Amino acid sequence: MGRHLMKTADAGSLSATDAGSDVTLAGWIGRRRDHGGVIFVDLRDASGVVQVVLNPEEEPASEEVLHGLRLEYCVQVVGTVRPRPEGTVNPDLPTGMVEVSASSLIVLSESDVLPFPLDGRTDIDEAKRLEYRYLDMRRSRVAENLRARSMAIRAMRNVMDEQGFLEVETPTLIASTPEGARDMLVPSRLRQGHFYALPQSPQLFKQLLMIGGVERYYQVAKCYRDEDFRSDRQIEFTQLDFEGAFWGQEEVLQTIELVARRVVKDLRDVELNEPIVRMTHAEAMRNYGTDKPDIRFDMRIADLSEVFAATEFKAFSGVLGDSGSVMGINGGPLGLARSGLDGLVSQAQDVGAKGLVWMVVEEEGSIRSPVAKFLSEAELREIVSVLDASVGDTLLIVADRTKTVLEVLGHLRLVVGKPDSHDELAFAFVVDFPVFDVADDGSLSPAHHPFTAPADIDTLINTPETAISKAYDLVLNGTELGSGSVRIHNSDMQAKVFEVMGISSEDAEGRFGWFLEALRYGTPPHAGFAIGIDRMVSILRGEPNIREIIPFPKTQSGADPLTGSPSRVESLQLGELGILVSPDVVASWDSEPDQEAASES
Ligand code: AMO
Ligand code: AMP
Repeated sequence: MGRHLMKTADAGSLSATDAGSDVTLAGWIGRRRDHGGVIFVDLRDASGVVQVVLNPEEEPASEEVLHGLRLEYCVQVVGTVRPRPEGTVNPDLPTGMVEVSASSLIVLSESDVLPFPLDGRTDIDEAKRLEYRYLDMRRSRVAENLRARSMAIRAMRNVMDEQGFLEVETPTLIASTPEGARDMLVPSRLRQGHFYALPQSPQLFKQLLMIGGVERYYQVAKCYRDEDFRSDRQIEFTQLDFEGAFWGQEEVLQTIELVARRVVKDLRDVELNEPIVRMTHAEAMRNYGTDKPDIRFDMRIADLSEVFAATEFKAFSGVLGDSGSVMGINGGPLGLARSGLDGLVSQAQDVGAKGLVWMVVEEEGSIRSPVAKFLSEAELREIVSVLDASVGDTLLIVADRTKTVLEVLGHLRLVVGKPDSHDELAFAFVVDFPVFDVADDGSLSPAHHPFTAPADIDTLINTPETAISKAYDLVLNGTELGSGSVRIHNSDMQAKVFEVMGISSEDAEGRFGWFLEALRYGTPPHAGFAIGIDRMVSILRGEPNIREIIPFPKTQSGADPLTGSPSRVESLQLGELGILVSPDVVASWDSEPDQEAASES
């Protein structure tokens, strides 16, 4: 390659086979060792790092330039690749066999003193990292995550393409799509007082595409939901969204398996040979106390109600008399001291338990527990047998309403069983979700969007609290990665389901009349799914927060410290939109200066 190119090689790609070749490199100064004589710098670019040797006697640049080099200066280096002298080989660096002896160095641009070091060894305040995200992403953690994200999306696109899906973009200024969160609204200038919603998902558009004869659709789709932040939630995130016509659940699950396999292969170089485990929602709840079971470890919840059917122990007999349950888990050889066991009791109480009985199985089959004296020999033997306990195991038992017992043990199971390792990947499909979540007061709230097909409409109408839907989730290591369903493809059925979901027929007609009509023109049966890409990549990368996987994420309070969004706008601009900010809000601004004001001071 000619010398006129700004760059002829990637720093991170150089190896012993390049020894002797002339290269032009360009990148940033990551580290420098200048002891007055020969200067060594780590030259970093997108591909990695290589050591560059600057010998002032060979005059690659003036003494002033050479000794004035600072961290993160952007430079171009012309030089020759050579093997490192014996004893200076760096086995930790992919390019550690070689170095580049520079014949010329040009500073392309200087850098101010950095707001934080980029060496990766320092813990940096989150807000600072996001304020300087463009520097943060020069660090290997973020840089590698960006590459992994790109690789995951490429893997997804490849599978979709091979399977004959059409990539279709759907609009992001739309009428509301109900996914259960608050909408993000965008005011219209042309129709003042009217608002677009940003899509919570492309749900209705992908269904329209099925009606439109696009039999297989996919999209890497931006979604927006005005909900509280969590480690696995942002207000904007990305889904791999797809849908198939003449499809039922089986086709969807098989497609997800293809995607999961390819992404895991490309990101982790691991083959998922076994089919993904499937369980019903009822099984997941009964065995693991949650609809997103972490099955990296088994530790199932066992029902002990039978064991205590005739117990003298008041805390248990009372609950059983009230048609509650007594259940337990075998936490294995936890070896906890009294304080640790008490800690579990308070954790159980924090998540709603009235109490927690712990038992430690000791030598000679005796059981140590604060309640052992209230239980009969037979009961103790049965517990050990049902929980398949061995000497040293710690058993945790809760009595309460069945729902509470499952919630509490589901939580404790994660506390005592969770492996620290992200190396292991446990995918699971959870199928046959109920149509409704039943709250403690018996009230019903839809578990999925209202376009999900019920397994059986009569049950839905007559005993909605027991109705099952054709909805399914994908779970990875205890996190919900994705969700989908077989859809309703009949307008009358859709109208009925809206009604059962508490959307009145006027309301349904007003908001979704256009969709009910669309369903009346020969709608094919169809089904689909959406995978949360941020979540999937964060788990595969072992990152605790999806923020690490998002190029420019928001903070916990929904702000972007880099660009200062969300920000106030000029009243002129609001005027054009026919919007007036309430005087109360304006007054509150005086007491709490906003971001821009804060960063100016
Ligand atoms: P659902 O609402 O379950 O389904 O979303 C699918 C997946 O998207 C991811 N996800 C999120 N990721 C980050 N931040 C958020 N706030 C967030 N909300 C959701 C999760 C979730 O499993 N239209 C349906 C899919 C369908 O029926 O085909 C839908 O959006 O990983
Ligand atoms: P009490 O009878 O309230 O003094 O409780 C005796 C023991 O039983 C304590 O260790 C409590 O933590 C435990 N306990 C009380 N209620 C429950 C319950 N509903 N489930 C499990 N353990 C309980």
